[in-house]
Amino acid sequence: MATVPEKRAFVVLGIETSCDETAAALVRREASGQGVLLANLVRSQLALHAEFGGVVPEIAARAHVELLDRLIAEALAESRLGWEEIDGVAATAGPGLIGGLIVGVTTAKAIALARGLPFIAVNHLEAHALTTGLTHGLRFPYLLLLVSGGHCQLLEVRGVGDYRRLATTIDDAAGEAFDKAAKLLGLGYPGGPAVEALASTGNPHAVPLPRPLVGSSEPHFSFAGLKSAVQRAVVSGEHRSEDIAASFQQAVVDCLLDRTRVALQRSRAPALVVAGGVAANGAIRTALADLAAKHGRRFSVPPAWLCTDNAAMIAWAGAERFAAGLRDGLDAPARARWPLDENAEKVRGAGVKA
Ligand code: KG4
Ligand code: ZN
Repeated sequence: MATVPEKRAFVVLGIETSCDETAAALVRREASGQGVLLANLVRSQLALHAEFGGVVPEIAARAHVELLDRLIAEALAESRLGWEEIDGVAATAGPGLIGGLIVGVTTAKAIALARGLPFIAVNHLEAHALTTGLTHGLRFPYLLLLVSGGHCQLLEVRGVGDYRRLATTIDDAAGEAFDKAAKLLGLGYPGGPAVEALASTGNPHAVPLPRPLVGSSEPHFSFAGLKSAVQRAVVSGEHRSEDIAASFQQAVVDCLLDRTRVALQRSRAPALVVAGGVAANGAIRTALADLAAKHGRRFSVPPAWLCTDNAAMIAWAGAERFAAGLRDGLDAPARARWPLDENAEKVRGAGVKA
């Protein structure tokens, strides 16, 4: 595909359907490289999945079909732009639930074909990774702690499309740990916000919980043992649930801090960025800001509403790729699995997340 860098200002429509949020957004990228958010709409499917205690892929895909075209029309109306002012269409093409991905990708391709616009296939993880470029104008390189429901990784972000993974989780992702802890505590899905709210009234030192892999030389993560320990604490009946929530959150903070510290020692990147749904957590944001300051690095985290899934980050990642001259063909596939760094070493573990 063409790789002629785009030097003018342009507008990209972004579409996100990889999990249980249907989202559409419009972003303008100025010739200077600055981003402007023109419209950002997110419809959560939470109510549809609530009775099942997690996301049901088939229900999610159907809901995306029903919502998406209306949401795109609303985003256009909100931005007061007409189709003739849109320069490209970007959609999350992976990783994620394949049914939902196909809905978003097919919709974007249909628009691209009908309007004669370029299509850009966006990696959802890359979109999380680049969000601070939109919100803070942060440039490369930086060390990224990517913490979401499906992923927990440390990556060096060297440029658009240029990622080097330093570490990953050998079992659960950080968000998954929050969701499982929430379920054990009888809280709803998604667990992160519910655990954070409950933790605010508890004692983070009340319940002794493990810090898996803390002190180990490679900065990988592990949360499965922590989940089991939370389960034992709940079953014992010896602790108040707010103390379990607070102690659990403190254990996750300690793990993330220790692992990120090791990665900072291995990276000369001048800034630390945290992104992904778990980066919405106040305790985690504060702890990592302190860590960055101690190591003399700049710190950047998107506002909480752009940490959880949205289409602004998809439009922005699309715009960054478009600016670099990257476009995709209408034969670009939706990919359930799509690691950011295809060459990263495989690590040991039960359910290694790429
Ligand atoms: O990035 P995201 O919206 O979706 C994925 O790409 O996975 O992340 C969702 C995850 C869920 O596991 C959710 O529980 C977690 O982010 N999360 C939080 C908070 N808000 C969302 N975890 C901890 N504290 C929060 N405030
Ligand atoms: Zn995400």
